[in-house]
Amino acid sequence: MKRIAVIEGDGIGHEVIPAALAVLDRTGLDLALEHFDVGAERFGRTGTAIDDDTMAELAEADAILLGAIGDPRVADPGYTAGTLGRLRGELDLYANVRPARLVDDRLSPLREPERRPADVIVVRENTEGLYTTLGGRFKEGTGAEVALQEHVSTHLGVSRVMEHAFRLARREVAVATKWNAMPHAGALWLRCWHEARARHPRTPSRHIAIDACALHLVRDPSAFDVVVTENCFGDILSDVAAAMVGGLGVVPSASVNPESGQALFEPVHGSAPDIAGRGLANPVAAILTCALMLRHLGFTDEAEAVERAAGEAVRARECTADIGGSLSTAEAATAVARRL
Ligand code: NAD
Ligand code: IPM
Ligand code: MN
Repeated sequence: MKRIAVIEGDGIGHEVIPAALAVLDRTGLDLALEHFDVGAERFGRTGTAIDDDTMAELAEADAILLGAIGDPRVADPGYTAGTLGRLRGELDLYANVRPARLVDDRLSPLREPERRPADVIVVRENTEGLYTTLGGRFKEGTGAEVALQEHVSTHLGVSRVMEHAFRLARREVAVATKWNAMPHAGALWLRCWHEARARHPRTPSRHIAIDACALHLVRDPSAFDVVVTENCFGDILSDVAAAMVGGLGVVPSASVNPESGQALFEPVHGSAPDIAGRGLANPVAAILTCALMLRHLGFTDEAEAVERAAGEAVRARECTADIGGSLSTAEAATAVARRL
């Protein structure tokens, strides 16, 4: 039996996770769910985001399913670092895989029908880049204040995420960098790209500047398959990709360490405080996140069935208002579950 650690987290995490679990239940799979109280409320009460005992239990699970982290009442960046940062970093979940696939033509913002079909996978380096928190502030609070936020790229870090991207490629890999303004990191990314190309001579690949990549992704997402990039660029690019397929309510993500098998599954969206607690949150991102988790656990048929059911419900407009329906979070999940 597979053990799944569940963290609803904050805001709409409390709505989309129960909704997605109702769909998961409908697969009939024998999954042992264990709920963990990690969130802003507990952080405010205890000052700890994830304690060491909880971390050890989470590390033992076959998969971790997380809703969202973030609460406007908690301004402390240590909260995000102690939750998302700790999980991704300590478990060394170096590949953040963020697929964005258009399931209904009407969700594309594009005029030209031939450019609409998007089936893009953003592979985001998830442990280094601009996210290491290395740096500091000097002469803080004065007119001469200096803030350093270091970008870190390592040969190990870039090679392994590049390898993961090449393994995921169906048509090609686009390597997106800012080599012209960040020549040191850029050179290492290009070296790792050439090394990956040599290991995968049959996989077409190209190098593209991250800014141009954002432009082309918006103009014609059908031109992209797998895009691999640095942590912060990948964060931004995955929201851009989301916008091409219906928004943050429909895009899932998986943070994986292919060697250890450990993995964290979370929608790309955050806690959406602007709509939290009102039954407006779209559960499709969390449902598709569960599908990624099922595939990771080896339940390929069930994963495909969940994805198919979610697509059918969306095409029938049995969905929430953000993608043109009128159902609540729970009703939209029921519409998916009924199709399983
Ligand atoms: P957000 O993703 O929470 O929301 C951005 C916009 O998208 C909002 O207008 C929101 O209403 C909408 N949206 C998001 N998910 C939706 C859904 N399922 N259905 C319908 N609409 C949805 O991003 P934000 O507002 O920048 O951040 C809010 C909080 O979430 C912050 O504390 C931020 O740090 C955190 N955050 C956490 C994660 C995560 O846990 N992985 C990701 C992003 C942001
Ligand atoms: C995401 C989020 C996080 C990130 C934030 C909340 C730190 O935007 O998962 O996309 O940047 O990784
Ligand atoms: Mn983000």
